[in-house]
Amino acid sequence: MGSFYVTTPIYYVNAEPHLGHAYTTIVGDALTRWHRLLGDDVTYLTGTDEHGLKIRQAADAAGTTPQEFCDRIAPAFQRAWERLDIANDDFIRTTEPRHHAAVRELLQRCYDAGDIELDTYSGKYCVACEEYYTDDELLDDGLCPIHKRPVDHFEEENYFFRLSRFQDRLLDWYAAHPGAIVPEFRANEALGLIRGGLRDFSVSRTSLDWGIPLPWDSDHVAYVWFDALTNYLSAVGFGDPAQDHTQRWPVDYHLIGKDIIRHHCVYWPAMLMSAGVELPKGWAVGGWLLVDGEKMAKSTGNVVNPLDLVDTVGVDGFRYYVLADTTYGSDGDFSYDGLVARYNADLANNLGNLMARVATVVAKKCDGVGPAPRADSPLADAAAAAVAGATTGWDAVSPSRALEATWGLIRATNAHLEANEPWKADPGAEVDAVMGDALEALRIIAVLTHPAVPGTAAQIWERLGMTGALDDQRIPDAVSWGGYPGGTDIVKGDPLFPRIAS
Ligand code: ME8
Ligand code: MG
Repeated sequence: MGSFYVTTPIYYVNAEPHLGHAYTTIVGDALTRWHRLLGDDVTYLTGTDEHGLKIRQAADAAGTTPQEFCDRIAPAFQRAWERLDIANDDFIRTTEPRHHAAVRELLQRCYDAGDIELDTYSGKYCVACEEYYTDDELLDDGLCPIHKRPVDHFEEENYFFRLSRFQDRLLDWYAAHPGAIVPEFRANEALGLIRGGLRDFSVSRTSLDWGIPLPWDSDHVAYVWFDALTNYLSAVGFGDPAQDHTQRWPVDYHLIGKDIIRHHCVYWPAMLMSAGVELPKGWAVGGWLLVDGEKMAKSTGNVVNPLDLVDTVGVDGFRYYVLADTTYGSDGDFSYDGLVARYNADLANNLGNLMARVATVVAKKCDGVGPAPRADSPLADAAAAAVAGATTGWDAVSPSRALEATWGLIRATNAHLEANEPWKADPGAEVDAVMGDALEALRIIAVLTHPAVPGTAAQIWERLGMTGALDDQRIPDAVSWGGYPGGTDIVKGDPLFPRIAS
């Protein structure tokens, strides 16, 4: 028990929410739901990144002011997350006053520490990345390595954050905090960036007005990444004298994609060191979901809208697929066929079928009333193994491992039924024993699947006649063998996951 603070990146509002945004946000949601089951006091933050040149240009192209443009797109993210059953506690927009206050406070602290200085910048800039590049970082034809499109030449007087001074301090800090970045191979990427040498980065613009003015020089607005990163502090009250951000800070995990390692694992901790703010406890870095082998992005034109998929496989079908199919940290390949295949195998045939056959047999052989489980059930070990595996998996921010362990209990329970064939036996003590075991396994399955498929898990809980809300259950009590009391009416209901023709 403790407090647990998790964040997603704040997404740019120049595009509507897509599969990649949904992926990271669902991972964060599942992780925070697990921690709520543990009894932690959870804060789950997501939001939108609304300043900078990219947004200014998108608003110009749409013929609106940047503020009107943001006010139109930000709610599309909020609606998408509601539709995907995301239980975030807060949604931050960088155009909010609370965020402006925090950015000004952080800038001022770094400036007072002597780590922000005026200088002239001249070089290449990718607007899509909102990032400067040196010539040797660009592709051979001078294109941005991420977006594969032309970069602009910029020359202006900027304030610079003296990142170059932080190389040793960052390396020392990471050496003293092994495991802060998971998975480990992503930590090596971050360390490689730091060892490769750090360049000062510009933290202001004069050529742009869509941003937060520097507190000491209002001719400049804050660089969008300095602005954006600060959201994680704004949301917990940094910069507001009436609030104590250390109630929530330091954050437990920043969930990010591998595209923004440099900003989160190099710039951000250096900014915090300069400002005298504690560093994050952890970063969990995800890979990309690729579509046809390419990163899905507006600029590549291969964007998949998650809400279209929900129409076919349901919210939980979609959530389960993204959590189970890709090992967090590695790249994953999205395909419609893969989505349907997983849905049919794991959800329709395994979980859905288990609920249906248990309810059917209880109706036919037990007068619809669930028998109590045995204390020495052969399924008790399988349940304990599933709990242990799920715990390890969620602890390591590895949803696919947690779900693999959870599905182990679903498979073991189906196998238990197939071995005993209670549907062929006459009603009596033997059938009752087998069905009591299966009902108790299903009760534990409802708790363990809650983080990934909350709507389905709640239905299983109700069909078993369990009282109290599922999300009020607490681990480990709620997953110890023997919690199903017996004597409840078992509801058959509609199939949880009707098979999809493939
Ligand atoms: O970078 N596969 O916002 P963004 C997996 N505003 N994840 C993906 C993905 C894909 N194909 N595409 C996007 C920004 N993501 C900044 C962040 S934070 C202070 C500022 C996810 O809209 C992934 O988490 O480009 C990635 O890091 C994030 O969306 C980038 O979203
Ligand atoms: Mg991006």
